[in-house]
Amino acid sequence: TIRSVVRGTGHYLPDRVIENSWFEERLDTTDDWIRTRTGIERRHFAAEGQATSDMGLRAARAALDRAGLKPDDIDGIVLATSTPDHTFPASATMIQHGLGMTHGFAYDVQAVCAGFVFALANADAMIRGGLARRVLVIGAETFSRIMDWSDRGTCVLFGDGAGAVVLEGQKGTGSSNDQGILACDLNSDGRYRDLLYVDGGVSTTGTAGQLRMQGNLVFRHAVEKLAKTAHAALDKAGLAAADVDWLVPHQANARIITATAQKMGLPMDKVILTVADHGNTSAASIPLALSVADGEGRFRQGDVIVTEAIGGGLSWGSVVLRW
Ligand code: ACO
Repeated sequence: TIRSVVRGTGHYLPDRVIENSWFEERLDTTDDWIRTRTGIERRHFAAEGQATSDMGLRAARAALDRAGLKPDDIDGIVLATSTPDHTFPASATMIQHGLGMTHGFAYDVQAVCAGFVFALANADAMIRGGLARRVLVIGAETFSRIMDWSDRGTCVLFGDGAGAVVLEGQKGTGSSNDQGILACDLNSDGRYRDLLYVDGGVSTTGTAGQLRMQGNLVFRHAVEKLAKTAHAALDKAGLAAADVDWLVPHQANARIITATAQKMGLPMDKVILTVADHGNTSAASIPLALSVADGEGRFRQGDVIVTEAIGGGLSWGSVVLRW
């Protein structure tokens, strides 16, 4: 059996930090409302002209550094993003170029906030299928570019940033004691499009559009579906919630994260929480959280880590891995 093992993590956050007070000056909202309803205290916004691939490139370089690897060692790049530099080419190819690579493949995966979970599962399948040995899996987003700044129900929630991991195929025994990705569970249901979407696009309006969300309905689906997909992935891995050392959830809302941990019977000291400092960075939130926690030395070899996410589509899923 081949297992996809995490060799390194890295992240990048743009310099510009926006505190909740910034919104108090512009909208009918308060720091207290944002904190208590979402857990968000601040978020980063990309600089003017700073593209998604620029942030993804910096995160990729950081992950390669931590892994002790060079771009030459990488066989391919999978970038999860819903805010690409251009309609095409894939922003992943811009990252590839930035790394000085002229070999290997590079493409984007689009599953909104679930994008990194989908990209991890995708890269894992390619590694196990023999298409690549080492894959850079990146989540990078500039949601600040698709906000409606007059909609207090959405514009306070999102931030920009990027995170990356290097996955490497290594021999395993096929048991749940192996290091690496043990199981994935992916789901989508297009009936729920209207709950969370961007009201523009190439083949419809010809504009980039702005994010629209029925937050309370997304909230209800999140609480119902996240624990379910995490349990499904654990089940496929032959593990139970009691085996979990760390939950690394998509960072959309602290209340959703707390409710999911509660449903899984996990104490909050097993949950990585970065939403207070990053806001919702969509596909970047999980690799950002992984990299921040890894940098703090919180994961020990052999730890069972569960990631889970839900976003526009709706699309949702979970990846279980052993560190
Ligand atoms: N400041 C003050 N009041 C606000 C704000 C704000 N920033 N935003 C909304 N309100 C008001 C509403 O207008 C409403 O007022 P009303 O009762 O007078 O109509 C009231 O607060 C309650 O609104 P709800 O939307 O019901 O509030 P809720 O407790 O559900 O919190 C929130 C809203 C934070 C958006 C929550 O629903 C949420 O987090 N939803 C999930 C979002 C999410 O996780 N998305 C993930 C996927 S993102 C992706 O895929 C791109």
